[in-house]
Amino acid sequence: MAEVLVADEAGIAAAVAALRRGDVVGMPTETVYGLAADALNTLAVESIFAAKGRPADNPLIVHGVGLDDIERVVARFTPLGTALAERFWPGPLTLVFDAAPGVPLVTTGGLATVAVRVPDHPVASALIAAFGGPVAAPSANRSGRPSPTRASHVVDEFGANVSIVLDGGVCSFGLESTVVDVRGAQPTVLREGSITREDLADAMDIPSAAWSQQPTAASPSHLSPGTRYRHYVPDCAVELVPAGTGPAHAAKLRDEGSRVGLIATTAAPEGVVEVAQFADAAALAQQLYAAMRAAEAANLAVLVVECVPEVGVGRAVMDRLRRAAA
Ligand code: TXA
Ligand code: MG
Repeated sequence: MAEVLVADEAGIAAAVAALRRGDVVGMPTETVYGLAADALNTLAVESIFAAKGRPADNPLIVHGVGLDDIERVVARFTPLGTALAERFWPGPLTLVFDAAPGVPLVTTGGLATVAVRVPDHPVASALIAAFGGPVAAPSANRSGRPSPTRASHVVDEFGANVSIVLDGGVCSFGLESTVVDVRGAQPTVLREGSITREDLADAMDIPSAAWSQQPTAASPSHLSPGTRYRHYVPDCAVELVPAGTGPAHAAKLRDEGSRVGLIATTAAPEGVVEVAQFADAAALAQQLYAAMRAAEAANLAVLVVECVPEVGVGRAVMDRLRRAAA
């Protein structure tokens, strides 16, 4: 089994040694746990793809602790990208730039661009700083599964296929970073995430109405390669229902004889497993992936989830829920 290490000096040193050997390491971030490897080592990055069962054309995010690491993989920064980096790093925003020539093709999924971010988590920062270079890290789940938001989830996903997971507690955001292509003058959101379109609009002094008119599910070329694939899917059926209707719908399925669970703003009726109760979209975002895993552990046939309004982080939540239900 993977060993969960306290992220003290000895734990960080063990993880750095593993990265130097070309191994993969479970790394906490403020969004979700990542499966980290030396971003500039082709063989190491290949073992991320092998462990996850990830399609080779789905590129990885390169993580740095500061601009030094990021400059090693980016060919040219743009005014837009620099402005957003200054405003949101460290934090849950991933920026897509032209890739520097030395970046292994396996890291970029064969693209000429590279996705980069500086995570806002003390353990990720300590690990990358001690390693002394950029690390590539996708979410630490087997391909297609819900992302992990605590160390034990990473162990559940990979067992003995990962030797070390650094413990960084429960992820504070719980949803993956927002991915934005910043090569042009205008940003293109490739994946909704913890930094909202409203946050970006604010930072750029653009009225957020201009943002809400942007398509959220444009042609595949406007999306991150990863968003083409089946993703975030727990091992039970997921049914989305309008806000406020969860308990009644779950009770109906219960009466028809299903083993049913509920994620809603109100309590679950008798005979329905209360998987999570949330006050707002941000609270649901933080709990969502752990709740999906709880639903699997409870052997549910159906998980009923109430939709949230598609504003702010609600867009990212609904994006993940639709994929889970698809
Ligand atoms: O919050 C996060 O972003 C987490 C933590 C660990 O940092 N990482 C994460 O990685 O969610 P992953 O691999 O699960 O998702 C990365 C997304 C995928 O949709 C991928 O296609 C996209 O970023 N991506 C990576 N490089 C890209 C590029 N050059 N152009 C467009 N999209 C890219
Ligand atoms: Mg992922």
